[in-house]
Amino acid sequence: MESFADTPDPRLRELLTHLVRHLHAFVRDAEPTIGEWQRAIEFLTATGHKCDDERQEFILLSDVLGISMLVETINHRKTAGATEATVLGPFHVVSSPRRALGDTIDLVGTGTPCVVAGRVLSADGTPLPGAELDVWQASDEGFYDVQQPDVQPRGNGRGLFTADENGAFWFRTVLPCHYPIPFDGPVGALLRATKRHGYRPAHVHFIVTAPGHHELTTHIFVEGSEYIESDTVFAVKKSLITEFAPVDDPEQAARYGFTAPFRQANFDIVLLPATEG
Ligand code: BEZ
Ligand code: FE
Repeated sequence: MESFADTPDPRLRELLTHLVRHLHAFVRDAEPTIGEWQRAIEFLTATGHKCDDERQEFILLSDVLGISMLVETINHRKTAGATEATVLGPFHVVSSPRRALGDTIDLVGTGTPCVVAGRVLSADGTPLPGAELDVWQASDEGFYDVQQPDVQPRGNGRGLFTADENGAFWFRTVLPCHYPIPFDGPVGALLRATKRHGYRPAHVHFIVTAPGHHELTTHIFVEGSEYIESDTVFAVKKSLITEFAPVDDPEQAARYGFTAPFRQANFDIVLLPATEG
């Protein structure tokens, strides 16, 4: 730790000091053999080799070790009544297709029809007209469009919406399915070696922005989804679990252009004013 004492950047010095303290404590506790140390180097090397412009295996490793979620939670401690944040994940694309309120983000037409609605509010309950919602989700079979370029049209399961003058939003979709994280690299090998499953419960991702407020990256999770108690990236927060209620009324279904039954989720999103947090 003393070898870093002259580091000009005080935060870099602090980070390295903590890193060395905890890494040395780990090695003293675990007492790895030389072979185990070599295996660890090979694992990290393979993790690096798996990364490219599309794939970030180190973030996936951070995710399955619970580090991403811990960093997320530490950095959003003061939610003060605002909606809780969770991980971004690797399937966000820079620009979702812009859609009008009420449009469907489902371009495939299989799966259980579903409507997602709510309002975007400030922490004191004031509606935020014109808030922007970037939304993305996996298909009813548990794949994102970018994972199935030959099966799903680009932009399936994605939309960029603007809330109305009351801060309200709504869009149509299909009920998302639970799905496995990318399993064909070193992280998948780690999960297999430890007999862990690699699944995430069904969810819809959101990035929500409004002037004068902190950007929020979160998901809503489908209540009752498989793996809701054992998300492989530890990203479930109780407050984000949402009922996707079954509705079997043909009249209500017709209003949305659906045939009954369908599912309905209502979820208000509360943003923290930029002056707080
Ligand atoms: C996701 O929800 O898209 C995701 C998050 C972390 C790792 C893999 C996928
Ligand atoms: Fe996801």
